[in-house]
Amino acid sequence: MSSAGPVAGRTWGAVLGIETSCDETAAAVVEPGPGGPGAPGGRVRSSVVSSQIELHAPYGGVVPELAGRAHIERFSQVVAEALAEAGRPGGEDIEAVAATSGPGLVGALLVGLSGAKALAMSWDVPFVGVNHLEAHLFASLLEAPDLGWPAVVLLVSGGHTLLIEMFGPGRYRLLGQTIDDAAGEAYDKVARYLGLGYPGGPAIDRIAASGDPEAFAFPRALIDDGFDFSFSGLKTAVVRTVERRPEAESADVAASFQAAVVDVLVAKTARALTATGARSVCLAGGVAANSALRRRTAELADRLGVPAYLPSPAMCTDNAAMVAAAGAWRLVHDGPSPMALAADPGLLLPLTA
Ligand code: KG4
Ligand code: ZN
Repeated sequence: MSSAGPVAGRTWGAVLGIETSCDETAAAVVEPGPGGPGAPGGRVRSSVVSSQIELHAPYGGVVPELAGRAHIERFSQVVAEALAEAGRPGGEDIEAVAATSGPGLVGALLVGLSGAKALAMSWDVPFVGVNHLEAHLFASLLEAPDLGWPAVVLLVSGGHTLLIEMFGPGRYRLLGQTIDDAAGEAYDKVARYLGLGYPGGPAIDRIAASGDPEAFAFPRALIDDGFDFSFSGLKTAVVRTVERRPEAESADVAASFQAAVVDVLVAKTARALTATGARSVCLAGGVAANSALRRRTAELADRLGVPAYLPSPAMCTDNAAMVAAAGAWRLVHDGPSPMALAADPGLLLPLTA
């Protein structure tokens, strides 16, 4: 424990990160990376994720009340594990506590946020609230702190689909976003319809491997038009097709659906790279774990001669290491958050351009 906590511009040591925005209760300890305090990157000393998949699976999606209650039940154990794994069972040398303050489910966010504030108070260290979307962007920086700037980042999760030009940590320009469903939401809805269970992304990814991606010509909405996305028509097209052709193999439907999603995501990313002249391309968010999206993004980067950063699958989906990393950076650059900081279910990515 350290009483001399970091303020803007000061150095810092280990940060405890806490993530409870949706259906993962997660805690992690991250120390500064080779670039030192305030630089992107960091050394992950522990990263514990307690998934609630088995709790929500019978309902085909996240049930907010159950999520909040499960976070309460698991919070202490997950934090204790993260501290013990990092060799700091009593919070020794933890210099700050960072927690997701939004966006997410309000009842879920409140659990991590209140717990983080309580720990920060009892250890007498600063507390910092973290934007979950910015945390996803910091996930790739943990593994590759030297992305060539500017980078085009495709942030695809269960709740968001954002195409961003990133000029460095904290400096973001929004190029495009979904006008209806998020990419992960489309995966989850189609999987539920096909009876593949929850969460849908990994299930479709798996079954698509044995299907024919050209079996059905699903729509590629807005593919020739700008940087925004639309996935709700695709979901409807899948439903109509299966209603018309009940004998269709689920693997073929899944593979054709995935091909349509990935075609659009990659086409927009390619357009963004060309339009901005960005020096690298990066994926973030749960859908970035998708095998087809990773393969096609790597091919695109090869073709355009820019490096592609594909975070490891565990860094794509929700975790607290990315929260600690984003919190550490915000702490050095903006200072601690007020203890009165509220959970904000609709928090947006802070844009600078
Ligand atoms: O980033 P994340 O863990 O949570 C949010 O912030 O939303 O993303 C979860 C989303 C879910 O919609 C899930 O189905 C999707 O990511 N996902 C995938 C894969 N793994 C997770 N989608 C496609 N392929 C995957 N392999
Ligand atoms: Zn997320």
